[in-house]
Parts: sequence; structure tokens; C-alpha cells
Amino acid sequence: MNYNKKTVSDADLGGRKVLLRCDFNVPQDKETGAITSDKRIVASLPTIRYLLDHGAAVIACSHLGKPKGVRKESLSLASVAARLSELLGMDVGFARDTVGEDARTKAAALQPGQLLLLENLRFDPREEKNDPEFARELASMADLFVSDAFGTVHRAHASTAGVAAYLPAYAGLLVEQELSVMGGALDDPKRPFVAILGGAKVSDKIGVINNLLEKADTIIIGGGMAYTFLKAMGCEIGASLLEEDRLDYAREMLQKAKAQNVRLLLPVDTEVGDSFAVDCVHKTVDVREIPAGWMGLDIGPATVALFTEAIRGAGTVVWNGPMGVFEFPAFAVGTEAVAKALAESGAVTIVGGGDSAAAVEKLGYAQRMTHISTGGGASLEFLEGKELPGVACLLDR
Ligand code: 3PG
Repeated sequence: MNYNKKTVSDADLGGRKVLLRCDFNVPQDKETGAITSDKRIVASLPTIRYLLDHGAAVIACSHLGKPKGVRKESLSLASVAARLSELLGMDVGFARDTVGEDARTKAAALQPGQLLLLENLRFDPREEKNDPEFARELASMADLFVSDAFGTVHRAHASTAGVAAYLPAYAGLLVEQELSVMGGALDDPKRPFVAILGGAKVSDKIGVINNLLEKADTIIIGGGMAYTFLKAMGCEIGASLLEEDRLDYAREMLQKAKAQNVRLLLPVDTEVGDSFAVDCVHKTVDVREIPAGWMGLDIGPATVALFTEAIRGAGTVVWNGPMGVFEFPAFAVGTEAVAKALAESGAVTIVGGGDSAAAVEKLGYAQRMTHISTGGGASLEFLEGKELPGVACLLDR
């Protein structure tokens, strides 16, 4: 996959209208609908400012949630327009539709230096179907397309990929940064290259393990998925998470790692609980001695030492997925230790989006990482080495 794409700095912006795809899929309070984290809105500001400062009129668009092609007031982007306006300290126009009369009239009247946000793209069923007519209608309001929605580049939708058939397509600053840091780590990592994979399920990480086995020097496996690997190695894992149908895959990967000389590290001890509960009884045991009925909920201290040692000598570390049930304080120890080891490593440190990014932020290490991806599913597919439709459609340099 070619990550060397034309960016806003290659585009002639003065006096032109830019259709800007952002990822404003922000978390909302279930009761009030209030935005609970504006991280993604803040992440879009450098590109918006860049475009406005260079004399463009900006028509921003995004999805929010999964309204499944119908208008749902609770998923309106009106609150995002208000937050953007506060953050930018300027008026932000808002269209009550995406390609309807309100949007077209407001887009046509937009002047250089002004910003308009369209309503939730997914209120129109044609967005997720990548309908060419919807893409053409969106494109018809602008002179060029800028993709800055890294979190959505794995989706082949009208606004993420389809519009590039009608407009010259450039990467925004956020997409450029994600591509250069993560692409650089995959293509030409500073070695040793250590990949840390966690999270609940092996099945979610198969593509990533396959791809990274070809690239990394060391693969560390923690989190719920580690127990399927431990079982594949012959350990009794009690009531720990097990994906029976992935045991053969786990065995195959253990053999492949050996054959390819990739160091594959698994937990050697684990913190087990007598139930899946925040206040369960828990203790540390060797992974070969997990008692029947108990479940592994975090890595143990000997494993922390083993993983930390591997991270300490790394040139590049990519991390995706927590080491344990970090939402429960008693089982956040392993995830916290890995976050700390990354922060202190001196390596190029890249945290895939989703849970590991949330953990790093919650634990206060965000500022000490080289890069925290804004993409959850997108960063996972990136690490799988898959072609991402929202990147492939951009102009090559
Ligand atoms: C995300 O939150 O990961 C992106 O905004 C993509 O959202 P989606 O999974 O609803 O396509």
C-alpha cells in the first residue's frame, strides 16, 4: 500500500471550496446526548485552520453513530458545529441536510475563510452504500476533496472514497501524520521492532498477527487473547477466555514465529479472579497453575518484568489492546506497566486507537507517546496491512 499521498500542502487552495471529510464520530452521553470527549474535534482543527488560513471555503462533513440511513435527532451534528465554533472562536455554519437545498444554498454562498458543517452523512442511506450519485452530489458543492477522517479510512463510503471519483483528493494533516508515523513503522521500522497485542479476542487480531509476524522482531501477546495461546501450548487455563476454534490458528502462529525467528512472548504468570467482577477475590499464579474455575484477568508481575525488558531495548513499539481488564482497578496493573514501559523506552512508540489509546489517556501517559492513533478499526486494518479505501483513493505524490 502506498502511503505517500498528496496532502493539503500540495493543493492550490486560495478561493476554492474544499469538501473536508472529518471523523466527528464523538462519544455522547446516553441520557443527554452531550459530547463526552471532543478529542476527535480537536484533532481536526489543524487541517481546518490550515485550509481557512490558505483562503479556502471549507464544507466539512462527517458521520455520527449508526443512524442506518434515517434522520435521528439524537445523532445530529448540530452540537459538533457548536463545539467547533467554540474551539475555533468563529461562526460555523450548519446545514440541516447533506446534499439537499439547505446544504447546497449554504455551500454556494460560502466565502473564503468560512466554515460550514453538513448534517450527519449517514442520515442518507446512500452514504454507506457508496452510491455514486450521492458522491457526485456531495462533490458538486466543492472544487477539491480533503480526507482528514483517519478513523473512517477503512470504510468505502461515498464521503470517504466515492467522492474522489469526482474531485482531486488530498490528505489532511491528521491523515498525513497517521500515514507517515504508522506507515513508517511498518515499512522501515527502527529495530528491534516490538509489537504488543492485547485485548479480549484472538479472532479480532488474526490479520494483525499475520502481518506483524512478517515485520516485527518480537511479538508480545497479553490480554484475554493470550489464554487461547497458553491453552494451545498445553496449559490448563481454568475459566479464562478461550476461543476453541482458534486453537489451531494459535498453534500455527507459535510454529510460524519459531520458523521465522520472531520472538513471541506470552504471559508467564497471571492475576486470576474467582469471578468476572470488580470486587472478586484474586491472586497471582504461574500460567501452568491456573486453578479450575478461576479466570486470568491481567498479566502477573513476572510477566510485567519480561515484557518491560523487551520494550526497554526496542527501537519501535506498536501497541494495540490492553493487557487485562483495565476497567477494574485490580486488573489495570499490567496495562499500566506496559504504558509506563513505553513512556520510558526512548523508542518510537505508536498506540493503536480504541482501548489501548483510552488506557494510555486514562493512565496519564498520552503526552509521552510518539503517536496515538485516532482510528480504532482503521488503525487495526492499517496494522493488518490491508488496503484502506479512504487512503487508496487519494492522489499519489
Ligand atoms: C470509529 O469510530 O471507529 C469511526 O468513526 C468509524 O465508525 P464506524 O465503525 O461506525 O464506521
